[in-house]
Order: sequence, then structure tokens, then C-alpha cells
Amino acid sequence: MEKMIGKTRLNLIQGDITLQETGAIVNAANTGLLGGGGVDGAIHRAGGPEIREECKKIRAKQGKCPTGEAVITTGGNMATGHVIHTPGPVWHGGNRNEEQLLRNSYYNCLNLAKENGIKSISFPSISTGVYRFPIDKAARIALTTVKEFIQEHKLEEVRFVLFSEKDLKVYEEVLKDC
Ligand code: APR
Repeated sequence: MEKMIGKTRLNLIQGDITLQETGAIVNAANTGLLGGGGVDGAIHRAGGPEIREECKKIRAKQGKCPTGEAVITTGGNMATGHVIHTPGPVWHGGNRNEEQLLRNSYYNCLNLAKENGIKSISFPSISTGVYRFPIDKAARIALTTVKEFIQEHKLEEVRFVLFSEKDLKVYEEVLKDC
């Protein structure tokens, strides 16, 4: 599904984020930044050791990446030029500021892209796998945060790359009424 918001294309697709050729792709990382499973594992596998090397340098300089913050590295062997790593929140029922932290993750990734002159960015569904964030709530937070940002700042494309048909359908339904 594709929707124009101002001059920005907002695109929802099913696919593998490691294959996207947007200026940046976003990694649903952890605070340690040194890889994991899910999309984190896929990105490190596809991008190669250069990404982890840059993450290690970031760790050495500033320590762990707090939940909701974002850091940027090379895209390594992938078609994308950059990976923006953000640890989303683990869902604990909704009483530990999870919604705001997820909003922060999306906002900080978009802001880092803007600061680096990146005009197109692909997101996975942050926190809705291992971190168990309910996907309908997460989709609403993701899409409203992106819409607010692109009304202020010009980007060419924001792409959500959902791994399953089921997840794509959730995002499409949410986009219809937000
Ligand atoms: N492309 C796009 N989406 C993917 C891919 C892929 N190649 N692989 C997995 N996904 C999807 C999952 O299906 C899920 O919808 O990404 C979404 C996020 O799931 P996780 O990767 O489990 O991320 P998250 O829930 O944020 O948990 C992060 O998991 O892998 C560890 O190191 C990571 O500790 C961190 C935690």
C-alpha cells in the first residue's frame, strides 16, 4: 500500500529489510548493539562484519545505546548505504513508558536520517517480535510518529518492510484510519 503525505511516499510492503535499497534501513537492535536474532541477526549476517566493527567503536565511545535512542553505521555488503540501529522497548504490559519509548525510537531514527542527509528509510516493525509489543498498538505509534515527522521534514520515502502478510495487513488497516 502506498500513500503520499505531503511530498513523501509512505510505503507498506511485505519483504526482507536487508534487501531494501533505501538510503538507510533500521535495525531493531538491543542496547548492547552487538547483534542478536530476528531482524538484528539478519542485518548483521547480510551486512557483514563491518557493521559490528562500527557498533563496537560506538560502544567504546559512548557505551550502550539506551532504549529509544538511535545510532548509525555503514550498510556493509547490503544495497542500503546505512543502518540505523535502535533498541525498541520490551513490552511489560504498558506501564513502563513503553509507548513513549517506541515513539522515541521511530522519531530518533528519522531525525538521524535527516541529520545525515538521508532521503529514504526502511523500517521493520520495531519491538513486535522478541520484545512482544502488541503489533496493533505498535503500528499506530509507528505510523503516527512517521506522519508527524514528515509533515515537518521533507523525506522522499518512508517504507515499512513487514516480514509476514499478517503483519502487513495490520499496518494497512491502521494506516487506513490514522
Ligand atoms: N526483514 C523485515 N522484518 C523482519 C526480518 C527481516 N529480515 N526478520 C524479522 N523481522 C521482523 C519480525 O517478524 C518482527 O515483526 O521484525 C520484527 C521485529 O522482531 P525482532 O527482530 O524480534 O525485534 P524486536 O521485537 O524489536 O526484538 C529485538 O531481538 O533479535 C533480538 O537483538 C535483538 O534483542 C533484540 C530483540
